Amino acid sequence: MADDTQAYKGPKRVFSGVQPTGDLHLGNYLGALKKFVALQDDMECVYCIVDLHAITVWQDPKELADQTRQIAAAYLASGVDPAKAIVYNQSAVRAHSELAWYFNCVARIGWLNRMTQFKDKAGKNSEKMSVGLYDYPVLQAADILAFKATHVPVGEDQKQHLELTRDIAAKFNHDFNAPNFFPLCEPLIKGPGARIMSLRDGTAKMSKSDPSDNSRINLTDDADKIAKKIRKAKTDAGEMPADIEGLEGRPEIANLVGIYAALAERTDADILAQYGGQGFGGFKSDLADVAVAALQPITDLMVRYLSDPEELNRILAKAADRATEIADPIVADVRKIIGFCGS
Ligand code: AMP
Ligand code: TRP
Repeated sequence: MADDTQAYKGPKRVFSGVQPTGDLHLGNYLGALKKFVALQDDMECVYCIVDLHAITVWQDPKELADQTRQIAAAYLASGVDPAKAIVYNQSAVRAHSELAWYFNCVARIGWLNRMTQFKDKAGKNSEKMSVGLYDYPVLQAADILAFKATHVPVGEDQKQHLELTRDIAAKFNHDFNAPNFFPLCEPLIKGPGARIMSLRDGTAKMSKSDPSDNSRINLTDDADKIAKKIRKAKTDAGEMPADIEGLEGRPEIANLVGIYAALAERTDADILAQYGGQGFGGFKSDLADVAVAALQPITDLMVRYLSDPEELNRILAKAADRATEIADPIVADVRKIIGFCGS
């Protein structure tokens, strides 16, 4: 596999996506958005708002466009620069849906049956879920490969979907005897913030779908709310450990230390050296200050971007044209490789 990755000779390109389904939270920011910003100076970056993925579960048509602009505003407020990166919504670029169909005929049912995110989302009701929810990872592969993206910044929960993307790329290249046509993309997961946990349960991922709002810090929370949620965050009966070994078996403390370190751009060990042996009060109060200092400017900027929806629409539409210019020739090549009449 490693050899194949290197064998691809095309340009390096970054692709990632976020669904327009509800408020973004600290996990999305640290696991995805912060990494998006860091990459945009070094490579061509394509950052999509994946509204086709969103409709795999019911979305109110009256709210979908607003939710899409909400994510666009979060991208821009976090520092994604539309003059550098391509920021658009997926449904505006036909290549995604078209390539997803071709990949439906490449991916195997056995591969999709192993996807844990579908099992988690569907629970006991898998028979009642949309076919789209089951097929979700194939569309994700199409997103990435419609741009021949080589690097994909995501949180830890997307690891399995990216492995599937590599499997689809490799099988397409092999079955159609098109060596290295699609790159085998490299996930960019590592680093602080890859897996932020719930503030109420250190063993559960921080998630939009957690019924408790106190489990997460939303990018739309004001300073008071952020401070209150951190004060209420679950800890345990001990005190702050002084070193990494002391985090063993203490998932809530490890999570809070990880959040502090990621936001302040310091190491866990550094934070522990500062607070080791103390109670949680002072640490939490400082963490609240760090979180407010990092997130408040983003929240304020988001409000400013959202006050001009027409401007956001213009930014998205312009970027969709740029995205189409890249993806259309790639999908046209796919049609030729498959051998369609007239292609
Ligand atoms: P989603 O909200 O599911 O569309 O996720 C958008 C991005 O945020 C993806 O790259 C996810 O991997 C990432 N993400 C979601 N939740 C978390 C979390 N708790 N910790 C770190 N990254 C996350
Ligand atoms: N499935 C991703 C998530 O839920 C969103 C996504 C869709 C994505 N297409 C993508 C992420 C392509 C990276 C690359 O977070």
